[in-house]
Amino acid sequence: MSSGTDAQLALLMAMGIGAGDAVISTPYTFFATAGCIHRTGAEIIFCDIDPATFMMDPVCLRDLLSSFKKDADGVLRSPKGNRIRLIVPIHLFGTCCDMEGIGAVAAEFGIEILEDAAQGLGAKYPSKSGTKSAGLIAPTSYISFYPSKNLGAAGDAGVALCLDGEMADKLRRIRNHGMEQRYYHKVVGGNFRIDAIQAAILRTKLPFLDGWNATRRSNAAIYRDAFNTAGLLDRVVLPAEPFAGSGLRDHHIYHQYVIRLPKRDAVMARLTEQKLGCAIYYPVPLHLQECFAYLGHKPGDFLASEQAASESLALPIFPGLRPDEQQRVVEAIKQALN
Ligand SMILES: Cc1ncc(COP(=O)(O)O)c(C=O)c1O
Repeated sequence: MSSGTDAQLALLMAMGIGAGDAVISTPYTFFATAGCIHRTGAEIIFCDIDPATFMMDPVCLRDLLSSFKKDADGVLRSPKGNRIRLIVPIHLFGTCCDMEGIGAVAAEFGIEILEDAAQGLGAKYPSKSGTKSAGLIAPTSYISFYPSKNLGAAGDAGVALCLDGEMADKLRRIRNHGMEQRYYHKVVGGNFRIDAIQAAILRTKLPFLDGWNATRRSNAAIYRDAFNTAGLLDRVVLPAEPFAGSGLRDHHIYHQYVIRLPKRDAVMARLTEQKLGCAIYYPVPLHLQECFAYLGHKPGDFLASEQAASESLALPIFPGLRPDEQQRVVEAIKQALN
């Protein structure tokens, strides 16, 4: 597909999501996920995150679904009257959501899951039925090959994944303006085709992905040691590794290394002053974005997402980063905090 965003849009179109439907996702993430839901005409309903992992909290999900009522036909509806069709949990920063927790709630309410694995390629998930790979946990998913991703093209690219053959046929049609036979359009689709040059670049880079992911993980271990040695673990929350105890090597592939600290803006200013790269993923949670003002949300509606947006800071983690550069990052953070 032409991008992760287009892969998601194509999947939603193939599932027939549109006006009259409602889709649940989280507000602390990149915009694309909610943007695609909106573009289908469906209602976007937000569910808060687990503050420790930044990802969908199954407890919040259960509370949310329990607050909805079934109609006379047994269909679960949002307060606006839309049919709850789909849950889109997002694997953020390189490790997986609690897919079993989310899956159990989804099954209880009879709702499907579409997995946003845009940032997760290569991450492994320890499920009760064995090890799974991000993007292959739910029946449908999508992955992004945006240049900054662990496997990045030279421009935009993505992939939609599904287990069902009929769904795959639908996606192939939708990718190509709904055509099977040239100029005969069975359905309305889009131009969601991947550029051949991007596909060639991805194919060339793919064999290196495992090694790059291993380097990201060893960079994360270097940060952990450096923050510990600097005595900062009481003021800086390092990224959670919810599946570290699984024994799986790739339980985290560190797409981003996101720390949390209450004095985030002062620390960021210090790093920027010293020309050390850092970034905020994501400064404004989606429920407070201008384009979603029509949903009527206000600050305080999704506290864990809002707190994550105000405290999180991504540090450089790319393969090729040197230990002395990481040491300078940790030193600069120490100076800013002292
Ligand atoms: C969580 C998430 N979902 C969706 C996307 C959309 O992918 P793309 O940028 O390839 O359109 C991205 C990537 O940027 C992302 O990080």
